[in-house]
Amino acid sequence: MITITDIAYVRSGVTDLDAAARFATEIVGLELAAPTEPGVTHLRADHRHHCLALVEGPSGVISSGFCAGDSDALAAAETELERAGITVHRGSAEESRSRRVREFIGFDDPFGNRVELVSQQETITRPVAFTRPAGITEFGHLCLDAPDVREAYRFWSTRFNARVSDWIGDAACLMRIDPVHHKLAVFRGDGPGLCHMNFQVASIDDVFRNWHFLVEHDVEIEMGPGRHPQSTAIFVYFLGPEGFTYEYSFGVRRIEDDSAWMPRTFDPGEVGSIDMWLGPVSRVSSQAQLQPARTGSATR
Ligand SMILES: [Fe+2]
Repeated sequence: MITITDIAYVRSGVTDLDAAARFATEIVGLELAAPTEPGVTHLRADHRHHCLALVEGPSGVISSGFCAGDSDALAAAETELERAGITVHRGSAEESRSRRVREFIGFDDPFGNRVELVSQQETITRPVAFTRPAGITEFGHLCLDAPDVREAYRFWSTRFNARVSDWIGDAACLMRIDPVHHKLAVFRGDGPGLCHMNFQVASIDDVFRNWHFLVEHDVEIEMGPGRHPQSTAIFVYFLGPEGFTYEYSFGVRRIEDDSAWMPRTFDPGEVGSIDMWLGPVSRVSSQAQLQPARTGSATR
């Protein structure tokens, strides 16, 4: 069993780096980290050096990163995955530097989502210099696509410490790795990809202020404002460049007593199962997973 302690980052390929970085800063509100590497833009939201890296090249998600403890824990994870027949790539010093981690390993989940386990992600203590006051408090969760969410759960719960918090039928599995209701989710989709990246905001007022801001700036709202009955979070989903969906949310449920929590099942076809406020519900768009053959490198 491999213990994931936290989510670390999303790495996404973009054909127009300037446009994607402009959206991530001026619209989403993230801090633009000082440039240190040609073709890579790091964006910061919290104590992490960055939680989003935009990489110039083909459009599509490159990888999703998770914290896995120290070097020994990472080496043990590498051995365990290889014993299970999974091909593991050990990141080079240059690749690790770009991710601001000491070391990392990369592998594909059973559906082709590229996952990276990292040790010692860099922390920055200086307050975040947000580009605009969106109220972001932290990188909240990430959501992957898979054609079979039950099979995805089997992968995450048998090899890793993820536990289901709630099911939305066969359409989604919401998983926790700490008391937060979900830091990882898998939504049913045709193939591997990143469904969305979530940022928590400080208040319900931030959700609604952001919604007005997005509408005023002609950003496509994909869903919301609404409230998820599973996590009780108040959300708004919106579409960034190159098919990348962002979410702001506030008020996610915490499951402090793990043993007392029983996962529930919601029928996605039932009114109110996605949005308790009964707003229009849609499946948000996903950014497809880049395949190594298309990028020339599995891990840039
Ligand atoms: Fe979400």
